[in-house]
Formats: sequence, structure tokens, C-alpha cells
Amino acid sequence: MKTINVGLIGFGTIGTGVARVLRDNSQLISRRLGAELVLKKIADLDIVTDRGITLPAGMLTTDVNEVLDNPDIDMVIELIGGYEPAKTFITRALKAGKHVVTANKALLAKHGDELFQVAAKAGVDLYYEASVGGGIPIIKVMRESLTANRITAISGILNGTCNYILTQMTDKGSAYDDVLAEAQKLGYAEADPTFDVEGIDTAHKLAILAAMAFGTPINFDSVYVEGIADIQPVDIEFAREFGYKIKLLAIAKEGDGGIEARVHPTMIPEHHMLAKIDGVFNAVYINADMLGPSLYYGQGAGMLPTASAVVADLVDIARNMLGDSHHRLPFLAYQTPNHQQTSYQPIDAISCNYYLRFTARDQPGVLSKISGILGDANISIASVIQKGRNDAGGTVAIVMQTHRARERDLRYALNQIDALDIIDGQTVVIRMETDL
Ligand code: HSE
Repeated sequence: MKTINVGLIGFGTIGTGVARVLRDNSQLISRRLGAELVLKKIADLDIVTDRGITLPAGMLTTDVNEVLDNPDIDMVIELIGGYEPAKTFITRALKAGKHVVTANKALLAKHGDELFQVAAKAGVDLYYEASVGGGIPIIKVMRESLTANRITAISGILNGTCNYILTQMTDKGSAYDDVLAEAQKLGYAEADPTFDVEGIDTAHKLAILAAMAFGTPINFDSVYVEGIADIQPVDIEFAREFGYKIKLLAIAKEGDGGIEARVHPTMIPEHHMLAKIDGVFNAVYINADMLGPSLYYGQGAGMLPTASAVVADLVDIARNMLGDSHHRLPFLAYQTPNHQQTSYQPIDAISCNYYLRFTARDQPGVLSKISGILGDANISIASVIQKGRNDAGGTVAIVMQTHRARERDLRYALNQIDALDIIDGQTVVIRMETDL
């Protein structure tokens, strides 16, 4: 049987998973491919730690050149993450005529278009299924399965760490800091969870999906990002009373005003399927004009689910090699010359419903002052509740839901409201998506 040789750079959790998948399912994969995928070399700075897998002598090396300069290696998997040296290694592999598979969403979000150009020039493929949604085959869906559709909106839960934290806060009423500390102890959250909890990891993934959906270059810098660190149990509780759940949602839409791409905590109706995605799971909900809505659900992280996506890419590329059909698929979902440089809208141009929590003095006239300013800014109030009573001059929580309003108008109104002496601190704002 023909063999196709693979080199791996980065022998961490996912790299170990790839080695296991290629070992445990090798016969199955060979039957599907009609050729054998052979892991030839693994490069990592640490070749001492026991990963629980036995490898042939000489397979592990600390010298990345043994992968990149190896003429026998047809495909290189990059699993070290981050910008450098990953970018240099991928570029070298592509220029050496090797196909590349990566899970590196941060690198693709920032430098994907440049790397695709290098791959195009070298006549090789650069695949990245594991970069978004871990094991969920969402890249294949975007690139191959929905080609007959105009995609109008994507709503995704794309970060397991954030979804785990919000689920625990919702189910147990715990505070953010406590759940984060527990998640780190259990190994769900990274020791440095900044990229996850600040929404940056989700934004990297959304930048890739939005470019695929709307046929633009990858535009990470235009994705609006807010994380989950300011979410408080009281807001989760109010959301529940209104029939909503709070999720860190990645939203991309194409409408008359252009493309919007944003990541922020979002209240969504509790009956919506995305509201039921709990724990570390990911999901992507796509509205498309011919198919209608569809939902893709599964494990967005973890050793074997992510390795499953990496190995599926290897098989796809190997099939292209065997069928002599490189570049059968575009790098994103449209042919690169057909990408449109459509600009993405700034956040103040979007409109949605809003949840507002004011911390206000409990005295006559407060509500009329707040609602007067909102009304003058063209913001219509859908409901108001006040929790508790404080007639000793203290403050209470006043919670409002607005009808659909423009973010620019809301910010204008809140600047005035937050400056009132009857208001304490900054008003909490959470966007609501009622018709996903
Ligand atoms: N850190 C990510 C998460 C997984 O928590 O979902 C890798 O993208």
C-alpha cells in the first residue's frame, strides 16, 4: 500500500492525541484512504516527559529541521500554537512543498491570508479544521457543505472554558472568580486563561468563520470583543427571571448595513438550542437561505476530539494527493481573487435589544429621570423591575429591557445617566439576541 509520511511539530496534548489516533485507528483510516498515513518524526523541545504512548526509537527529536528539511515528509502538522515560531515553521514547510495542517486559530486570525498566499505560490494545501470548534467539523461545513447557500448569520459558542464558567455560575449561583479558580484546578482552564475569558480565543475563531461565510479576507482587527469577567450572578439571576440565559456568543451577520462580527456576553432565550449548550461543549448555529437554520455541536477542545479534526485534515489532503487534485478547495470558502474587501461595521452601528442594570437611589423621580433620558435618545423601554426597597437613602437594582435600539444611541444615553447623582457606578449592559 502507498504510504504518505507525516511530520509533527508540537508534542503536547493535541500532538499526543494525533499520535494515538494514527496508532489506534490506522487500519480504519487506511481502508478509507487507500494508503497508509505514517507518522515519521515528532519535534518538540521536551522529548523526556512520558506522554503515555510508546514511539519507535528515533521518532522524537528536539530539532525541528529534522521535520522541515526531511525530503521524505509530505505533510507537516503544526501544533505548537501562538504566533512565533509557528508562523516561521509553517512558512518553511509550505515553501519546502509540504502540505500543512494546523490547529492554530490565533495565527490564522492574524496572518491566515498571508500564509494562504505562501501555500498557493508553493502549490500546496494549508488545512485548519481543528482551529475552530475543536472536533466539530465546522470548517468542512462552511467550505463544502453550504456552498449553495447565502449565509446570513452565524451564532457560536466557541470557547469551552467560558461556557463551562458561565454554566457553573448559572447552575450553582457561584461567583466568576470562584468558578475560574475551580476550572483551573480541574484543568479545564489554562493557567493563564486571558485569551479564553477575555473573548480573544472566540474572536480568533469568529474571524475565520466570518471570512468563510461572507467571502472577505480574514479581518480579526474588526471583530468587537468583550469577555466574561464582569458577569455577575445577579445578572444571571435576572436573565433567568426574564426567560434568558447568558452565553459568550460569537455573532457574525451580513445585513443591509454590511457585516458585523462581535463577541460578547449575550442574553439568549432559554428555549433556543444554543441556550442548552452547557459545560465545555461548543456549538455553531448557522442561518442559511436555502438550508435554513442548522446546528453543529460537539467537543470544542480536548486531546482526542481535536486530534480527530487534525487527522481528518491529513486524510483530506492525502486524498487530494492521491487524486492529484491539490487546491480542489479554496483556502477559505470563496476563491481568493473573489474575496471582497467589505468593511466590518463598528460596534456602535449595531442594534439589538439591551438588558440594563442601574444601581440607583431608591427615591421618587429616579425612574422618570432614567426613562426621560432613554426616551430622548430614541430608546424604547420594554420592561422594568426593581428588586428590594431601600428607603434609607441607599441604592437598589433597577433592571430594564429595551426594545431594539442602536448601540450609539444607548451609549449616548448611558453617558448622561451614569453622570446623574442618583446613579452609583457604571450601568451594566448586556446585549440581548431575541431572534437568532
Ligand atoms: N481554550 C479553548 C477553549 C480550546 O477553552 O475552548 C482551544 O481553542
